[in-house]
Amino acid sequence: MVKSSIRRIAICTGGGDAPGLNAVIRSVVISAANRGWECYGIHDGFNGILFPERYADDGVIRLTRAHVRNIGHLGGTILGSTNKGNPLHFPIRMPDGSMREIDRSDEILQYFAKKEIDALVSVGGDGSLTIADALHKKGLRVVGVPKTIDNDLDKTMTTFGFDTAVAFATECIDRLHSTAQSHQRVMVVEVMGRYAGWIALHCGISGNAHSILIPEIPFDLDKVVDQIMARDAEGRMYSVVVVAEGAAPKDGHQEIVAEAEIGHAERLGGVGDRIARAIAERSGKDTRVVVLGHLLRGGSPTAFDRIAAMRFGAAAVRGLDKGLSGVMVSLAFPNVEYIALSEVAGRMKAVPLDSDTVQTARDLGICLGD
Ligand code: F6P
Repeated sequence: MVKSSIRRIAICTGGGDAPGLNAVIRSVVISAANRGWECYGIHDGFNGILFPERYADDGVIRLTRAHVRNIGHLGGTILGSTNKGNPLHFPIRMPDGSMREIDRSDEILQYFAKKEIDALVSVGGDGSLTIADALHKKGLRVVGVPKTIDNDLDKTMTTFGFDTAVAFATECIDRLHSTAQSHQRVMVVEVMGRYAGWIALHCGISGNAHSILIPEIPFDLDKVVDQIMARDAEGRMYSVVVVAEGAAPKDGHQEIVAEAEIGHAERLGGVGDRIARAIAERSGKDTRVVVLGHLLRGGSPTAFDRIAAMRFGAAAVRGLDKGLSGVMVSLAFPNVEYIALSEVAGRMKAVPLDSDTVQTARDLGICLGD
């Protein structure tokens, strides 16, 4: 392994925002500055490079200590983000109005060469890390940092953003217990999680939900209703049901709000409303639905997420300093380690159904819809 001769690095944040992004940026900028490196921030994923004319600073900003002072506790990302416009599959409109994808990744490499930027820290989820892997294979020095509130990235114990989302969702469920109990209602709480039910499972258990429905377990709503009625029969006249946006009934399909289009994945949502109606119909109970949605992506990161984010940022810079490339920083308690991006790209970490967390839910009598 060759010791790096880095002088300049760039950082970008891509995909859905997550609490902790600013803490990573701060950690990367300071760790780089302490090595005498310059750090540049690319706006809105790679859009800063692909569309410099849209930005007063030409799309890429020199980040100094002053830019990252007191930002570690703030939600969002000072660089902006996008979950549209993957440079490998960039959507363009043809003269006849149809859409097609082109590969614009060479423009990224050319930019780095022209500006003599030696390496990239790419902070993102599966999509961004797949792009990072491709850029690495084309010759760019890249280290990835795993981000997503959904916690569905493989090869890391957890991503930053997840703990904050779970903590907030738990607080919301705690609050909803009061109304459920006072009004003898069923409260249905829909949380994010398209294909993995980590948020629903964790906040459901910590918030004492009575049913938790996750994408990994196709549900039978009768099981949920039976449990609600059994609770009623025992004098516990209220129930709380947590459902991940990607959960689907055994014989049905996910609720899609907007179909996938070139450059953007499908949008899910609506399952909470659908099951709340069905529960009301079948049980005769007053039922309400609360969709937490993007509230889960905002706010100040928890201490756990801040520390994870800062450890990831510092480790990304250390990795580059050691000459590493094509790797993602991963949390493997008690340490961080480096995993090949090729082992992460395009993979999703679903909730393992034999995990002790799932078993804990079952042991506590929580209905998982099966
Ligand atoms: O960050 C991941 C995620 O939170 C998913 O759970 C959700 O489906 C998606 O983002 C929604 O993203 P947006 O509405 O920003 O496209």
